[in-house]
Amino acid sequence: MTQDEMKKAAGWAALQYVKPDTIVGVGTGSTVNHFIDALATMKDDIEGAVSSSEASTKKLKELGIEVFDLNSVDSIDVYVDGADEINDRMDMIKGGGAALTREKIVAAVAKQFICIVDNTKQVPILGNFPLPVEVIPMARSYVARELVKLGGDPVYRQGVITDNGNVILDVYNMQILDPKVMETKINAIVGVVTNGLFANRGADVLLVGTPDGVNTVTL
Ligand code: A5P
Repeated sequence: MTQDEMKKAAGWAALQYVKPDTIVGVGTGSTVNHFIDALATMKDDIEGAVSSSEASTKKLKELGIEVFDLNSVDSIDVYVDGADEINDRMDMIKGGGAALTREKIVAAVAKQFICIVDNTKQVPILGNFPLPVEVIPMARSYVARELVKLGGDPVYRQGVITDNGNVILDVYNMQILDPKVMETKINAIVGVVTNGLFANRGADVLLVGTPDGVNTVTL
């Protein structure tokens, strides 16, 4: 079974968490793209979606799913998104696709976070995947120096501008032993919009695509 087939299995398994007549929070990435394909099969049963990126918005609209502005929505029952790494405590690194800030905002509003991954994303300790940090452009060098003080090696993601008009620093060589504390510390650096640690608001349900089917994990 290929990695993409495992992503697809996880994406389609998330459909069971979508309730009729609700607005669904939709993340970003190749695994979520499979979920959007699945969601399109029940587009007449849901009100629509709130999207975490221009890329997901485009795909949702192409498939005939209405996309709502988050400011016009009171609550979201479920948010479905992928991850770059996830540990046993359901803490994640996200932002490989540079959509971390909008993802974190929609996740904050949602009652339940359903994380969909293939089995290569499960790790004992976060940090092998470089941690994305979204930064206001004029603060890039200052934030990079502060990230070095926290023990990381930040690298400017050349040529990438986020949907919010900012830049991304990918932080290498961080062994993130306490993700909640690290998330809070990095977010306190002036000029940081947010970082890709999703620990203070982690996942509630994890659906892992494996060669033997989809495993469901809850805490
Ligand atoms: C997007 O910014 C990310 O947070 C994605 O959720 C993450 O990179 C997972 O992407 P894939 O599903 O493409 O592996």
